[in-house]
Amino acid sequence: MRVVSDRADLRSASLPGDVAVVMTMGALHEGHAALLRRARAEAKSVLMTLFVNPLQFGPNEDFDRYPRTMEADLELARAEGVDLVFAPTREVMYPQGEPSVRVEPGPLGAVLEGASRPGFFHGVLTVVNKLLQLTRPDYAYFGEKDYQQLTLIRAMVRDFDLPIDVRGVPTVREADGLALSSRNRYLSPPERQSALVLSRALRATAATGSIEAGLAEFAAVPEVKLDYLVLTDPMLGPAPDHGPARALTAARVGSTRLIDNVGVELP
Ligand code: PAJ
Repeated sequence: MRVVSDRADLRSASLPGDVAVVMTMGALHEGHAALLRRARAEAKSVLMTLFVNPLQFGPNEDFDRYPRTMEADLELARAEGVDLVFAPTREVMYPQGEPSVRVEPGPLGAVLEGASRPGFFHGVLTVVNKLLQLTRPDYAYFGEKDYQQLTLIRAMVRDFDLPIDVRGVPTVREADGLALSSRNRYLSPPERQSALVLSRALRATAATGSIEAGLAEFAAVPEVKLDYLVLTDPMLGPAPDHGPARALTAARVGSTRLIDNVGVELP
């Protein structure tokens, strides 16, 4: 496995065959590993990017304390058969400072996560677009854990005619239902217990086809501050009367903001 951190080394590290990219902000866990495994199984070459993107953090968010575990991340990448890691510095990614031109996510970027985190999806789509241009993959893998992000990346690839196949990977969970997240390591043991209400509320919503049951789960755990719990269609539009739908939630557990979502089949 090679590790490169600047554009020249990335360009000269030509990878054979079809190339799969997995983009990450590090602090890798089994969720990231699932993406790398899919990539490993489906492409000749696997390229992982590792960059904590300052553009997608708000002024009061956790950019400074976001976990940085480079050594362990490279270990995991090596174990999953990654061929090349691109781990640029901020200066390599943004040599002119913060870019003045950014990807505009459109209306879908202003709801749910976008409503709570202004500018978040501009930052995500801008860095994903840059990393796609820099790495030029055939396939790019993203987790359903960040369902709105995955939906917006698919929209960007479609709307900008990017020649890339975007592949979604199901959410990896702990045995008790908690979706794996780099931010879970902020949780104290009691907070970790409280955080189970997110997946419980989504299961209740999926089982009943209505958010009422999910809201009741949240009401029973007042220390968790609900941001939203919604039922939508699979493209995040208004919920259909029947058929495939999506339930999505975000909540604050102590000072940690968590998100989760599940597929729903409405009878
Ligand atoms: P990060 O949070 O590190 O996640 C990297 C990728 O791993 C994303 O596609 C995310 O959806 C996926 N992932 C995270 N937890 C997962 C889980 N429990 N199961 C399945 N997949 C999971 O998402 C980002 O980084 C950034 O926004 C990025 C796309 C890298 C742009 O900066």
